[in-house]
Amino acid sequence: MQVVDMTVATMTPPQAREHTTDQDRPDIPIRHMNFGFDAKEADTRFFVNTELASAYFEALSIFLTYGEDLVIETARYHRDLIKDPYLKQRVTALIGQEALHSKVHEEWNEVLKAHRFPVTFYRFLARNVFDHGFRRFPQPMKLSLMAGIEHFTAVLAEFMMKHEAHFFHSEDEKQRALWMWHMLEESEHKDIAYDVFEQLSGNYPLRISGFAMALVTIWFLVPLGGVLIPFIRKPRNLISLSFWKDAKRSLDLIVGRKDGVYGSTISHVFDYLRPDFHPNDHDTSEYLAYYKERLLDPEKGLLTPYLTKEVVPPVRA
Ligand SMILES: [Fe+2]
Ligand SMILES: [Fe+2]
Repeated sequence: MQVVDMTVATMTPPQAREHTTDQDRPDIPIRHMNFGFDAKEADTRFFVNTELASAYFEALSIFLTYGEDLVIETARYHRDLIKDPYLKQRVTALIGQEALHSKVHEEWNEVLKAHRFPVTFYRFLARNVFDHGFRRFPQPMKLSLMAGIEHFTAVLAEFMMKHEAHFFHSEDEKQRALWMWHMLEESEHKDIAYDVFEQLSGNYPLRISGFAMALVTIWFLVPLGGVLIPFIRKPRNLISLSFWKDAKRSLDLIVGRKDGVYGSTISHVFDYLRPDFHPNDHDTSEYLAYYKERLLDPEKGLLTPYLTKEVVPPVRA
């Protein structure tokens, strides 16, 4: 296996490539995980030892469950309209992976409550946006939104894969395993929602509308996590120098142009606007191979202690 420098984005620049058929693509297993989270072990400064950037990921964990429920429901509806048995199988794998993400993140979100994270408030916010908004859209719009959400999770997953060191500043092994498991699977299934959209619709203006809604949600709604948390957790921190140092570092880690989660991935995010865009134009196969070994090796894999079952859905004609 080629050794890659995981701290710097050194992969070959994305290039358009021949897309393989669904039949040739690697299997996508549905992995059941049991992390057994414990609030006493949860590190609220997990992400590069910052409070606010870590709070961003805590808010993301809550919003993701609502996005995943929309993806599951939309994928289920459209699976029946697909003729290709291999794409159908891949949609089943997408549904299975997202169902497990949503369930396990809910377990994690309950742990966050013990750390004065406003879980109830964020659920209220997300419920209004997703359950009373997005999930009531007509199916073609939901299909586009599903592809848009999956684009953002693919961008995030690629960022995480290229910045492995960010996840090793903390001793919190379960939180690390949770995010790395999710990262791996988002990258594994990143092309499925897009392929379903292209096969059943392919309408460019519709695709861009779903992208715009996903962008507003992920760029503007989720970061409220970082903005609100100091007022809720320890308001007196607002007058301390260490808080403002943390705020500066956190801002850099999220929106910094050089290495920030969103600042450094803007060109990937907006590549979606290209009419002939495809998720696999951003080739992550080498990273996937590296992480499958690192995370799933039967002896030393970081996920191995928590993996309880792995199922590949059958192809059905
Ligand atoms: Fe997910
Ligand atoms: Fe996903």
